[in-house]
Amino acid sequence: MLQRLIPCVALGLALALGISLSLTSCGTVQRTVVVTPHVSGATFVGNQTCYDCHTNISRAFPMSAHAKVQVPSGKKGDLHGCESCHGPGSLHVASGGGKGKFITNPGQNPQACLECHLTTRAEFHLPHKHPVLEGQMNCVQCHDPHGLDIMKPAAGLAMARVNESCSSCHREQAGVHVFEHEALREGCVTCHNPHGSPHEKMLVERDSNLCLKCHAQIAVPGSNGVQIFIGDWDHTLNLRLGGCWSAGCHTAVHGSQVHPRLFY
Ligand code: HEC
Ligand code: HEC
Ligand code: HEC
Ligand code: HEC
Ligand code: HEC
Ligand code: HEC
Ligand code: HEC
Repeated sequence: MLQRLIPCVALGLALALGISLSLTSCGTVQRTVVVTPHVSGATFVGNQTCYDCHTNISRAFPMSAHAKVQVPSGKKGDLHGCESCHGPGSLHVASGGGKGKFITNPGQNPQACLECHLTTRAEFHLPHKHPVLEGQMNCVQCHDPHGLDIMKPAAGLAMARVNESCSSCHREQAGVHVFEHEALREGCVTCHNPHGSPHEKMLVERDSNLCLKCHAQIAVPGSNGVQIFIGDWDHTLNLRLGGCWSAGCHTAVHGSQVHPRLFY
């Protein structure tokens, strides 16, 4: 995490100072820059200041991915994780704090998150995506901004962490099946990109390649030429009919209550 953080934060600082730099400095990793929300007239005060009034949030925070984000505040050694999402807090603190008082709340508007997470921003502009930019749902329904583990949903029910955040809305796919598909143990994200994808249903691949990542396709010379086996079944004819989950085939990709081969 830190190795990834350092070059990107350095880039963020450079941007803040007006130095022009190519974004490809972060090209091999997720593109993340540090651009904090703007609060007119306010300056940065550091995490410690927030602790006095927001003790519970502040206690959980130090181990989280954002705790160590540095912003150009002038004061050396001060950590500004809180203000990286909420904007500089001096006016909020001076006014005694309060809802809507000189502070940004990215729970209501994900733009604050997207200013830094450029890769995520791009994903949410793909044709198939969760309706976050449309205002129908929010980053914090899948990410806990203050907890130890930002990948956990904000409601915080622990379990297989990623699938758990999906199951709160998609019970059918994440539920218990008599014939489970073991692929789901790897997590929903093996097949879906929840931020967005160019493919239908936010799939990471549009065709059989999605399944062939795990189920090897084996060619065997047979009496009628080459036969294609997937698992212990000769798929030579099936593969000409359509994709793996098209009608008549493995339509129950998430698991089945009745069919061991996930037909329905
Ligand atoms: C990753 C971005 C992020 C960071 C870092 C962050 N917050 Fe938040 N904060 C949020 C979001 C998003 C919400 C809205 C939560 C919601 O709507 O469920 C929020 C809400 C709040 C609230 C409103 C009360 C509440 O629970 O809804 C307070 C107070 C707060 N944050 C304080 C802090 C403090 C103090 C820190 C540092 C210790 C901090 N935040 C760090 C994103 C962040
Ligand atoms: C003097 C006490 C005090 C300090 C210091 C303080 N706050 Fe607050 N803050 C409050 C009060 C009171 C509220 C309103 C009640 C609540 O939401 O918890 C509030 C609300 C918030 C909210 C929710 C705003 C909204 O519109 O939903 C955020 C976010 C927040 N504070 C962040 C911070 C951050 C970040 C810091 C540190 C830079 C900080 N606060 C320092 C008292 C304070
Ligand atoms: C000021 C810039 C900034 C803001 C604003 C910001 N982040 Fe981040 N975030 C970072 C940095 C830097 C990292 C650590 C480096 C990385 O993983 O890219 C990070 C890490 C993360 C991670 C963990 C990535 C991983 O691989 O473990 C998630 C998830 C995340 N942020 C979500 C959010 C959400 C949701 C919001 C808004 C509520 C938000 N961020 C706001 C800069 C920011
Ligand atoms: C529908 C649930 C969902 C929503 C909504 C969502 N995320 Fe994510 N996000 C995830 C999951 C799941 C992962 C883990 C992906 C993986 O492991 O491949 C993730 C990963 C991330 C990461 C780590 C880098 C990456 O892409 O793997 C960042 C940063 C992030 N999300 C930011 C955000 C921001 C910012 C928002 C709101 C604009 C947001 N997410 C909304 C589910 C969601
Ligand atoms: C807060 C509720 C919520 C959570 C959590 C959530 N989703 Fe969704 N999901 C939605 C909504 C709303 C839609 C859009 C439905 C529509 O457009 O009709 C959707 C759509 C989808 C679709 C596309 C369905 C289609 O017919 O095109 C997939 C796939 C999906 N979600 C997977 C996931 C995965 C994987 C996760 C966990 C990483 C997740 N969702 C977490 C609410 C949620
Ligand atoms: C093995 C790959 C794979 C995994 C893992 C997977 N899905 Fe899917 N999912 C698919 C495919 C393929 C479709 C498209 C089905 C179709 O079009 O008939 C789909 C469709 C969906 C849809 C749209 C509704 C529908 O049935 O068409 C939702 C919602 C969804 N998945 C959620 C999830 C959730 C939540 C998880 C994790 C619990 C998950 N998926 C794990 C492959 C997968
Ligand atoms: C992440 C790896 C992974 C992916 C991706 C994946 N599977 Fe699976 N699948 C498994 C595992 C593991 C098993 C259980 C062991 C086995 O039978 O090979 C399994 C079992 C099956 C079975 C039951 C086989 C039997 O004979 O009992 C079917 C059918 C199946 N998968 C279809 C699909 C389809 C269709 C897709 C694409 C939508 C797909 N799988 C994607 C890992 C995966």
